[in-house]
Amino acid sequence: MSEPQVILGTNRTGVQTSPEGTARQLEATRMFPADVPGDMSVYTAERERAIREADLIGSVPPPATTKGMVKTALDKTIGKAPEVLIDKLGERLAFERTGVRLYEAMVAKATSAPGADPALVETLRSIQADELEHMNIVREAIETLGGDPTAMTPCADVAGVKAMGVLQVLTDPRTTVSQSMSAILTIELEDNAAWELLIELAQKGGHPLIAKRFKHALEQEETHLATVRQFIRTDLLEQVS
Ligand SMILES: [Fe+2]
Repeated sequence: MSEPQVILGTNRTGVQTSPEGTARQLEATRMFPADVPGDMSVYTAERERAIREADLIGSVPPPATTKGMVKTALDKTIGKAPEVLIDKLGERLAFERTGVRLYEAMVAKATSAPGADPALVETLRSIQADELEHMNIVREAIETLGGDPTAMTPCADVAGVKAMGVLQVLTDPRTTVSQSMSAILTIELEDNAAWELLIELAQKGGHPLIAKRFKHALEQEETHLATVRQFIRTDLLEQVS
C-alpha cells in the first residue's frame, strides 16, 4: 500500500475538540433520560424475561429421503442426536457460502484501492475458490446424512446474522483494504475454530469419512488465517516504519 490509509483530518468526535459542546451534551443527558427508567439491572431483568418467554430460532428438518432416514436411523446407533451435527453442518454451509460472497466484496475492494496490489487480488481469489470448495464438501456431507442442504438450520440462521457486520464493513465503499482485511480476519478465525469442532463432532458421530474430508478443509483454513494475519501485519508495519 503506497497510499496512506489513515489520514489526519477535522475529526470533532472527541471531547477535547469542544469543551463547550461537551458541557451541553452532558446537560442534555440530564434533560432527556432514557425511555426505560432505572439502571442496567432493569435492562437485564427485561432481557431475562424475554428469554424465558421466547421460542427457539428454528428446528432441524427430519431427513427427506428414505435412504437418508435409514442412514440416520443407523447412525443413531453410533452417534446420538444426528440433528446436532446436521445443525452445525447447516451453519458451516451458510458461513462458507457467505465467505464466497465476502471474498467477492474483498476482491472489489483490493482491485479498486489506491495502489492496488495484483498479488493480493490473486491470493483473495484463491481463498475464495477454497471457500466454495468447502461449501460443496459440507453440502455433500449433509446429503450423505440424508439432510436437505437447502434447509436453513437454527445455527445457519444465527451464522447469517453474525456475518452481517463483516458484510457491512466490506461493502461500505469508504472502508480501506486494511479495515476490510480486519473484518475478514474475524471470519477466518471462526472458520478455523468451527472446522476443528466439526471434525470432532463427525468423528464422535461415527462418520470418519466425513471427518477426513473436513481435515482437508481445516488445513486450507489454517493457511487462510496465516495469510490474512500476515497481510494485516505487513501492511500496518510498512505504514509505521
Ligand atoms: Fe477461510
